[in-house]
Amino acid sequence: MNSATMWRIEPSGPLVGDVEISGSKNAVTKLMVASLLAEGPSTVDNAPRIGDVDITADMLRSVGAGVSVDGSTVIVDPAAGLEGKVPVTYSGLNRVPILLVGPLLHRVGEVSVPVVGGDRIGTRPINFHVEALRALGAEIRVTDEGLEAKAARLHGARVRLPFPSVGATETVLLTASLAEGRTVLENAAIEPEVVELALFLQRMGARIELRPDRQFVIEGVSRLRGAHQRLGGDRIEAFSYLAAGLATRGSVRIIGCAQDRLVTAITTLQRMGARFEITDETIAASADGLLGPAAVSTRPHPGFMTDWQAPLVVLFTQVAGMSVLHETVFEDRLSYLAALRAMGAQIELFDQCLVGEACRFHQGEWLHSAVVRGGCPMEGTEMDMPDIRGAFAYVIAAAVGTSPSVVHGVRYLERGYDRVFEKFSSLGLRISEIH
Ligand code: EPU
Repeated sequence: MNSATMWRIEPSGPLVGDVEISGSKNAVTKLMVASLLAEGPSTVDNAPRIGDVDITADMLRSVGAGVSVDGSTVIVDPAAGLEGKVPVTYSGLNRVPILLVGPLLHRVGEVSVPVVGGDRIGTRPINFHVEALRALGAEIRVTDEGLEAKAARLHGARVRLPFPSVGATETVLLTASLAEGRTVLENAAIEPEVVELALFLQRMGARIELRPDRQFVIEGVSRLRGAHQRLGGDRIEAFSYLAAGLATRGSVRIIGCAQDRLVTAITTLQRMGARFEITDETIAASADGLLGPAAVSTRPHPGFMTDWQAPLVVLFTQVAGMSVLHETVFEDRLSYLAALRAMGAQIELFDQCLVGEACRFHQGEWLHSAVVRGGCPMEGTEMDMPDIRGAFAYVIAAAVGTSPSVVHGVRYLERGYDRVFEKFSSLGLRISEIH
């Protein structure tokens, strides 16, 4: 992995070429956690080489699991005795600690995990996880340091999520698979990465059914075995590079991310005027002239995903006309736009819901809608990467700037994007590392 903390990026004209898409960031760590439920080792192939995998591997080792990460193959062996305490040194690094609660309760009965971290894109509470774990029979105490949980025996329950949360759905799948009896989960997240976890658990021997209307039904079993799964392509990485190609008036062809993971993204870009060539293995996006604007509201799957929003807004700065974005999943996911404004982009932020129906944040003061005027020149600048997706957006912004930029905090990119320096360089972006 790249060890530089800063990059200097020169505007380099159209980005053109092929990008091999890696396995999905938001599935790999969940399959690693699920592996703790089995009686033998599990293998995950096509894993992305990203910081989040290394952090999760260390976290699993800290509770006694054997973990090997060899290129894109991750093997997790929970056979040795596990213990229930995840050290506080893992506090605030990613979203994995809360997902460990269910599996460790099954294996150890008593658990303490540190405060959950991840990108600062909203308040990101864990109340849905806690309520679901309680319904499944866990005794939970939330402390300043994290969460303590106990359970003599976990049982099935009927759980309805107030919002289709990816993480809380995963908590229920991971906990209910070995619980006694039936769990019905309503208003569940059905993101492809969640389904990927459900498929992995099914390979391990879990009985999981996905019904229409966002409902999972899980019949608890008494044991699970190790499994082997190859991860599907990362649809966030795929969209990010397609947007980078279009924003620079180039053309990127992605390899290794199935079309069905990108349906809404492709339709959105097509409406803006992008042309697609799609085969079973590849998806290429290009444009004949200037793209047109769009009005987009982020949504849980199958809607336009929140993680596609940052590259899309940079693309909005390069099209003809006014575009509008309404972020409805995380209340504070537009703060990265300050740097684009400093570059000269004309973007106004609003606390109202500007596209589609009112969202959960309509009465608050969160600036969660943006109006973007396309076509304004953006000067290169110095930027601090704020989070994984904002970080990628800054690289695209630097690529379309009128002068070189320096971006700090490359670790954000490396936590979520596999070999991002190499992939951007191969598309023709002139980047140099600053050590
Ligand atoms: N929420 C609650 N209470 C909870 C859980 C969630 O109020 O207990 C709220 C959140 O605050 C948010 C909404 O529900 O407003 C959705 O959150 P969700 O639980 O779905 O998000 P997550 O599981 O924390 C994952 C991804 C995110 C991705 C979201 C939405 C991982 C590691 N992270 O987060 O990915 O944006 O789902 O699809 O899987 C990223 O990769 O950059 C990233 C942030």
